[in-house]
Amino acid sequence: MSKFYITTPIYYPNADLHMGHAYTTTLCDILARYHRIMGDETRFLSGTDDHAFKVAQVAKKQGLDAKDYVKQQGERFKSLFSKLGVELDDFIQTSDEIRHWPGAIEIWKRIAKNGDLEKRSYKGLYCTGCESFKKTEDLVSGKCPDHDLVAQEIEEENYFFKLSKYGDKIKKAIESDELKIIPETRKNEILALIDRGLEDVSFSRPNKSMPWGIPVPSDDSQTMYVWCDALTNYISSLGFATNDESNYKKFWPADVHMMGKDILRFHAAIWPAMLLSANLPLPKSLFVHGFITSGGRKMSKTIGNVIDPLIVIEEYGVDALRYFLAREISPFEDGDFTIERFKEAYNANLANGLGNLASRIMKMAEVNLDRPVSIFEPQGEASGKSGGLAFKSEFTELMNNYELQKACDYIWQEIGRLDSLIQSSQPFKLIKSEPGKGRELIQELVISLYTIARMLNPFLPATSRAIKEAVRENKAFIEPLFPRK
Ligand code: MSP
Repeated sequence: MSKFYITTPIYYPNADLHMGHAYTTTLCDILARYHRIMGDETRFLSGTDDHAFKVAQVAKKQGLDAKDYVKQQGERFKSLFSKLGVELDDFIQTSDEIRHWPGAIEIWKRIAKNGDLEKRSYKGLYCTGCESFKKTEDLVSGKCPDHDLVAQEIEEENYFFKLSKYGDKIKKAIESDELKIIPETRKNEILALIDRGLEDVSFSRPNKSMPWGIPVPSDDSQTMYVWCDALTNYISSLGFATNDESNYKKFWPADVHMMGKDILRFHAAIWPAMLLSANLPLPKSLFVHGFITSGGRKMSKTIGNVIDPLIVIEEYGVDALRYFLAREISPFEDGDFTIERFKEAYNANLANGLGNLASRIMKMAEVNLDRPVSIFEPQGEASGKSGGLAFKSEFTELMNNYELQKACDYIWQEIGRLDSLIQSSQPFKLIKSEPGKGRELIQELVISLYTIARMLNPFLPATSRAIKEAVRENKAFIEPLFPRK
């Protein structure tokens, strides 16, 4: 049995869940569900990045202890994810001293032992939105373009991680696809960045500038700086450096870390270098998506242009949102989310396309077939134990290569093919002139619809279930799957 380990970035828990979070997490959920169906032992991780400055600030504003605040926010994130139809296997919070800290501390110790940490005095421009130091050329009129915040000048002592040492090794790993970066354009972007030379990075800050965080081992004047602390979640959550490393042994290296383009640099340079320094295996791939924009700018709380995914779900249903995120937004470029675009796609492809097809076929089936069509379903598909034999290889190939948008196109081509088949073969007429042939045709349509429902399972789980149920009971839908809006 093979395994599949997929991760979202860990989210800053001070923001309300927004479309960007929903996007990354939904894409991961689709892949996790697909791999479960295929029978892979699957682990899907998400979590929160608690030790950021802004998190402590928001907690303080609300008069809460930071720890209580992040716990409460963690619960909120989890319950919101379940509203998105997301089924996580694990949720890690970096403030978790039992689960997360031992892994982060162990990595620090290994890197230090390898001679890759050095205390230096440092002066730089800091963006609290990104939680990172910025170069002057990254700023527009002194402001961070992603957050619209003026970068602050800071001088202090930091431990530096000798990232510069690892450029060549990382480059080789990326070039050879040992660490595969998807898509190719991002791979080239990061290779170009490495070619310009990687600079050493700050890995800790004085306690007084870090309101909370993991203490640096053997220097209690310093606290680990967010990226060293945060990136480690991918292995700490597996029990790395605890007395039960069985999940670490089973699931590491990750099959894919999913993330937005803004944090590629951290995942494609700092994280692999940390792992190399600590003598641990590299993740297999990084999937890098663009931003969901609104009015042409990244949706973000700091900018204040967020569309609430929950409001979309209330109006259109969770599967409609999942559909839009998976198919109507390009995973590799920025995509604008507007309600107009959403509604148009909903009516065209869900109300008309899929919904209409399913309803026509099941109406014909209920009226004309005296018993449910017997379906060959690979054993245990629902419980995730199938060999997945019934999926066409075109579909599995796309899914295995993380081509979610194309896999959806493939499903909708099939929907289109059935629509045309009904149009050209007119089963409702055939059933009158040649009942035997008519029934055969309807049976064939029902089986094809079932196949569509199976492929839809990772993308639109509730819809997939409803169609399968209708087929098994040979029942027409009482209400439309996707009412026109
Ligand atoms: N805490 C860090 C990640 C640490 S991972 C070890 C972080 N958190 S975040 O909450 O700001 O962002 C989390 C993810 O959401 C990132 O992948 C980011 O790219 C993504 N998105 C945030 N806003 C987004 C959009 N508007 N559109 C798409 N994704 C964006 O960064």
